[in-house]
Amino acid sequence: VVSTPGELLEIAVRVAREAAATARRMRDEAIGDVETKSTDTDVVTAADKAVERQVVRALAAERPGDGVLGEEYGDSAEVAPGAVRWILDPIDGTVNYLYGLPQYAVSLAAERDGEVIAGVVINAATGDEWTATRGGGAWRAGRRLSGSVRTTLDQALVGTGFGYDARRRAHQGTVLARLITRVRDIRRFGAAALDLCLAAEGSLDAYFEKGLNLWDHAAGGLIAAEAGLIVSGLDGAPAGRDMLVAAPPALFPALHAALAELDAAGGP
Ligand code: IPD
Repeated sequence: VVSTPGELLEIAVRVAREAAATARRMRDEAIGDVETKSTDTDVVTAADKAVERQVVRALAAERPGDGVLGEEYGDSAEVAPGAVRWILDPIDGTVNYLYGLPQYAVSLAAERDGEVIAGVVINAATGDEWTATRGGGAWRAGRRLSGSVRTTLDQALVGTGFGYDARRRAHQGTVLARLITRVRDIRRFGAAALDLCLAAEGSLDAYFEKGLNLWDHAAGGLIAAEAGLIVSGLDGAPAGRDMLVAAPPALFPALHAALAELDAAGGP
């Protein structure tokens, strides 16, 4: 079925709302078993798995030919050229979820031929929603988003996050120790998808992180880009595991230069 980005977004929003309701209900009632993944602090709850299964089921019922890449169960199927692949983080901000901190989200994006064309992020604790379609702008509650108007790095409130791997964290710590003297302040809220939405609406001036997975940034990255931010890796590389920088055009060069310098040691 060939669908427009708008049609895909409509499905994404509907499915993500149901997913957010499940996440929230399980948080209120019982989050179920908590297991660890890549490290002792990288957790997955029964809710992450239940929400992913629910979304996969809902999408399969509605669009059986599509693929789904989810954080917990990986790729559901090979995706033919021209077909849609949904990219899902059932609960982004799982550690917040575990602690009951109201900063966790369902992130769902539709990708076609390697390009994200629609995306929604819902803060499941508060119900706040951010959406975007490629070329159609980024939106929250009927308001079109356009990022921060700040132009200098020393006035910028910059969001970031850390992976679960200890070596990567040590590297991230060294970058941050030097960046903190060059910016207004740093924020680490704990859900990359929401951080990107906060940058899209200008509640953060910019955001960067090393080590993200596609499900963390597929929807939020489109929302930030459609709000007019530059979303990219270092030195023109696409945003990805190595680095994602999201900043309005006026701030991007300074933040990029600082990160390129401070990240130069590479790090895992
Ligand atoms: C994590 C969060 C966190 C970011 C990590 C992600 P998860 O996702 O987005 O803010 O710093 O890099 O792995 O594990 O909660 O889905």
